[in-house]
Amino acid sequence: MYTLLFLFISLVNAFANPGPCTGDCWTHDPGLYQRKSDGRFFRFATGGGIHLASAPSIVGPWKDEGFVLPGGSKIDHPGSDNLWAPDVHYQENTKKYYLYYSVSVLGKKNSVIGVASSDTMEAGSWTDHGSIGLDTSNNPNYNTIDANWIRIDGTPTLNFGSYWQDLFQVPLANPLKISNTAPHQIAFNGSLNHRVEAAFEFKHGNYYYLTFSSGLGGNYDVSKPAQGEEYRINVCRSEGGKGNFVDKAGRSCLNGGGTTLLASHGNVYGPGGQGIAQDKSQGLVLYYHYADKTKGLAKTDYQFGWNRLNWVDGWPTV
Ligand SMILES: *[C@@H]1O[C@H](CO)[C@@H](O)[C@H](O)[C@H]1NC(C)=O
Repeated sequence: MYTLLFLFISLVNAFANPGPCTGDCWTHDPGLYQRKSDGRFFRFATGGGIHLASAPSIVGPWKDEGFVLPGGSKIDHPGSDNLWAPDVHYQENTKKYYLYYSVSVLGKKNSVIGVASSDTMEAGSWTDHGSIGLDTSNNPNYNTIDANWIRIDGTPTLNFGSYWQDLFQVPLANPLKISNTAPHQIAFNGSLNHRVEAAFEFKHGNYYYLTFSSGLGGNYDVSKPAQGEEYRINVCRSEGGKGNFVDKAGRSCLNGGGTTLLASHGNVYGPGGQGIAQDKSQGLVLYYHYADKTKGLAKTDYQFGWNRLNWVDGWPTV
């Protein structure tokens, strides 16, 4: 009986180890995109600005290419020389890559989301366009960081948010500006400090899937959360993509719901800051940062992780 129970729990928690990575494998809150022209991968990260690395394939060898906007953003706001949380996508109509970034101060609801564009994603090719009109100057109930672009039913849309009332969504007027529509909430966990951030939504089959990071990220060498309260990656799904997200058990994701897609296991600790990439050879891939217990627990030790998504009963697993 106990053996069976143990076996069951082990199976439930059996996550695949991260796929291989060679070269510069440090990352934090990564954004990943495979270039249309030649299939080269570009990986963006947070840490004293938006780092850029590139590689011929997702496994590497990854090469550090410097910073996206080495001089910071033209947005006049605290944190404009220390940009965060890159999210990258390509638009066929303009033939450009767009990178959303956050200008903020750690732990404060005092933030602006900005955007830069490029024809190639390469270092030195990015043009800053400043704010997209989404900020916290009117003291809203959300924080304007961790942007994530997605086209929903033909409408370019931005997800964003972190803590306070958690995740929100707003339609865009164009890649450089939000529309006049008021943002609406798409996910909320009322427990403790409302530890939900890093939305990343994607479509698969008949559903839109919303992934997010729950729990506490950070320098785990300085302060380690209670067991199980470190970063982990959750997923919810919805038919329309604009709301009514539920988890696998049918719980509303506006009310604490969320199915664990990836959590600490083996030497992997606190996986989060995730996204989903379309790899031409691997299909849909979950990518994230994690602390490798054998390497170190500080943000500067974080490693790039990725796993191919598998599907069971309409839900992604790794
Ligand atoms: C909601 O937050 C609490 C406190 O951090 C956490 O224990 C719980 O697992 C969270 N729910 C989800 C779905 O992550």
